[in-house]
Amino acid sequence: MHLRKVGTLHSPSPLHTLLRGPDPALVLAPMQDVTDLPFWQLMTRYGGADLYVTEYFRVHPDSRLDPDILASITKNPTGRPVVAQMMGNDIPSLVRAAKELEKHPVAAIDLNLGCPVPVVYRKCAGGGLLREPARVDAILGALREAIAIPFTVKTRIGFDDPSVFEHMLPIYARHSLDLLTVHGRTVKEMYRSEVHYEYIARAVAAMPCPVVANGNVWTVTNAEDVLAITGARGLMIGRAAIRNPWIFQQIRQHRRGESIFLPTGRDVLSYIAALFEAVCHPAVREVSQVQKMKKFLNYITHGVEPTGQFQHTIRRVMTKADFFRVCAEYLDHNEPVPHEPLAALLAGSEAGCGEH
Ligand SMILES: Cc1cc2nc3c(=O)[nH]c(=O)nc-3n(C[C@H](O)[C@H](O)[C@H](O)COP(=O)(O)O)c2cc1C
Repeated sequence: MHLRKVGTLHSPSPLHTLLRGPDPALVLAPMQDVTDLPFWQLMTRYGGADLYVTEYFRVHPDSRLDPDILASITKNPTGRPVVAQMMGNDIPSLVRAAKELEKHPVAAIDLNLGCPVPVVYRKCAGGGLLREPARVDAILGALREAIAIPFTVKTRIGFDDPSVFEHMLPIYARHSLDLLTVHGRTVKEMYRSEVHYEYIARAVAAMPCPVVANGNVWTVTNAEDVLAITGARGLMIGRAAIRNPWIFQQIRQHRRGESIFLPTGRDVLSYIAALFEAVCHPAVREVSQVQKMKKFLNYITHGVEPTGQFQHTIRRVMTKADFFRVCAEYLDHNEPVPHEPLAALLAGSEAGCGEH
């Protein structure tokens, strides 16, 4: 068993303070090419998360810290603690990157053990490492030894078979992690299968550190269900926050017994306009700006209308004017938009998620 660094024992870090608080920790999931600095800043306007995790820093012998991701740490616009996520498998490189990251204002360093992109897992990084528990053991041992601040892991429940999870949990427990986030799917299940919350509950029972539950939290109601089923200390929310940036605030309102803010079509339309302003740089060609927005719309359209026509039409627009004309066609109204994404989203007709 690793002996904890003195610094982490004496001064409670922002991460520990959050995890010891009375309410479940609400974490915005890391999402490559989505959760950058402008997106985080936008989220704060809608209530925001309690904790933010960067996109992953790819770490290998020749890697340097990506300056754009680093900017989300050094210019952190959220007013909340930020966790720096790394992905890689080369121990000296991971230790070097972790020590560089520690010099910046990060609340913790996280290791990604879940990325399902074939080009990543074939190199045995991200989710690919779940095929090699002994290697994970060695990596965690080295990182825990090297990192003086809180150290966390974000994992899936296995590569293609969740039975490995039972072997992974003692490894995670052995290395004095400060937090384990569990996305309740195997790597092969990508993003679209059901989520196996019972494995998250097993992690809660087995781990000496807090566990955060991740996967398919879309509404206030199912947020409460996931907390109850798993016993987790918090929730990490990804795609639902793109589609409904009010979700963190809604969960807080629900827990305080207040009425829940339900966005109307026009609220969503304003959010899309704000998203455009935030994430589309004016120097970039208009068609590229529109392309970028279409990726975000993949997550938003399903909640709005059931036939798929909105998504179909938006995928074909090429100009900003057409983009907003189509959005207004479906959203320029004062009716509440449905709370839940439509079955189509969960069944996997959305594009983009599988790309990560
Ligand atoms: C577009 C996209 C990019 C992602 N990038 C990352 C990443 O950089 N690091 C990571 O640990 N997980 C990444 N994920 C996985 C999410 O953090 C999260 O585990 C997953 O989306 C399930 O949560 P959700 O159902 O709330 O979306 C990504 C997911 C998506 C959809």
